[in-house]
Amino acid sequence: MRSFADSDGDGVGDIGGLRSRLPYLADLGVDAVWITPWYPSPMADGGYDVADYCEIDPRFGTLADADVLLAEAHALGIRVITDLVANHTSEQHPWFVAALAAGPGSPERARYFFRDGRAGGDEPPNDWISAFGGRAWTRVREPDGSPGQWYLHQFAPQQPDLDWDHPGVREDFDAILRFWFDRGIDGIRVDAAPAMAKAPGLPDAGHGPGAAFESRTWVGNPHWDVDGVHDILRRWRRIGDSYPGDRVFVTEAVVNGPERLSRYVRPDEMHTTFNFDYLTAPWDAGALRRVIDGTLAALAPVGAPATWVLSSHDETRHVTRFGRASTGAAFGGAALPASTTDPVLGLRRARAAALLTLALPGGAYVYQGEELGLPEVEDLPEDALQDPTWERSGHTVRGRDGCRVPLPWDGDRPPFGFTDAGVAPWLPQPAGWAASTVAAQLGDPGSTLALYRTALSLRRSLPRLADAPLTWLDGGPDVLAFDRGTALRCVVNLSAEPVDVTGHGSVLLASGPVPGRLPPDTAAWFRVDGG
Ligand code: NOJ
Repeated sequence: MRSFADSDGDGVGDIGGLRSRLPYLADLGVDAVWITPWYPSPMADGGYDVADYCEIDPRFGTLADADVLLAEAHALGIRVITDLVANHTSEQHPWFVAALAAGPGSPERARYFFRDGRAGGDEPPNDWISAFGGRAWTRVREPDGSPGQWYLHQFAPQQPDLDWDHPGVREDFDAILRFWFDRGIDGIRVDAAPAMAKAPGLPDAGHGPGAAFESRTWVGNPHWDVDGVHDILRRWRRIGDSYPGDRVFVTEAVVNGPERLSRYVRPDEMHTTFNFDYLTAPWDAGALRRVIDGTLAALAPVGAPATWVLSSHDETRHVTRFGRASTGAAFGGAALPASTTDPVLGLRRARAAALLTLALPGGAYVYQGEELGLPEVEDLPEDALQDPTWERSGHTVRGRDGCRVPLPWDGDRPPFGFTDAGVAPWLPQPAGWAASTVAAQLGDPGSTLALYRTALSLRRSLPRLADAPLTWLDGGPDVLAFDRGTALRCVVNLSAEPVDVTGHGSVLLASGPVPGRLPPDTAAWFRVDGG
């Protein structure tokens, strides 16, 4: 929301900006938009610190604006998914303000995790760590001014964790879900789902000094992916199912492998989940095939559709990752010093990756700007950085601002139509984005925008594609080749040599020129013979 389009000239994207660009999204060919948190927030973590779950932040608009957005999106056939941040509130949420004021042992504190410290109170209650670096506990001053209890926050200190064993928390979130479903929201993206349940008694996790928040490797961790989370998800699914139409849930769950992930999408839980194994996979045929096969195999027993995603507001944009020597990714942005990238190579691979992703069975997420081939902005001035990771890491990890730079719409200099001329966007845009604007790319049939529009249109129009299974073909070393039934054949060349694609049928779409053989880092879609 903050980086999409600004309608009121304050340099921050808003609902009005999104409304004005809905025709662009319809022409792009998306089925739905997911909007990151739009609730009142002090913005300690880009809105993932919510101070009121049933309002819109005035920077973004009003509830009336949200209603109009929903109506306009629906009229264009676009569904709207909003973000539910339920593991934690903002420190400015009235519940937390009341908890601080009420003092130890109060019912207000029972909504959160307030505990006495160890070692006479001076040490945190356990060894849990924060996803943004450092420990997951902060000590408060009690109302009388004395150093007091500690509270838990698995993210920034401004994001205290709620205690989901508290019945009032569960009931209040039931009402929050109903509030948005009643307004016509089509779906909910569940933030940080694995954080919500904690092991009874809050035992130590066994983290060593300086341990990193590597939840994809944790087994039996007491503060992440604890099984109790599934009771909460089932409760929410029952609420969603009680509404007319198909209300969908997608969960964010960075957990240890596809089997743990599949638990979040059992038939009575979430409908889909983001696929972080795919998002973080390197540009390597073997690694990608392992993730694709692993995903499909893990989801088949629970009957959930797969999803595929290359970039997000939390991750280094894949154009930049794919141009580096090391093409995989880890959550949280690049540590310093960032490795150099080859932008031409990165974009070539990113375009091929788009055709791979959009050919896979299931749903695909496009992160705003990837359809323009935008790179990570790696040289944001330090005083512009807003991600809490930057401070929490002692200025060693720049964090996620580089993928959140506002979109370039038109013109030849910042703000590129994102906001009014002369207004500074909330994060500075590179001066050299003129060739990447939507306006520039709309006139260019070879642009990345044109590639996405054509691919998304084919995904919709190719007969029998939606339900067609994936069947691997032998494409040779470092080549991914597969059929989707008789609807589509996809061949992706990740090798260093051109590959022969004669016999694959006629090319429907390619990520780059195909002068006979398929060049390295290029993908093509073919019409399957007889299809
Ligand atoms: C995941 C969100 O995608 C991220 O942006 C946020 O910082 C954390 N959850 C905490 O809410």
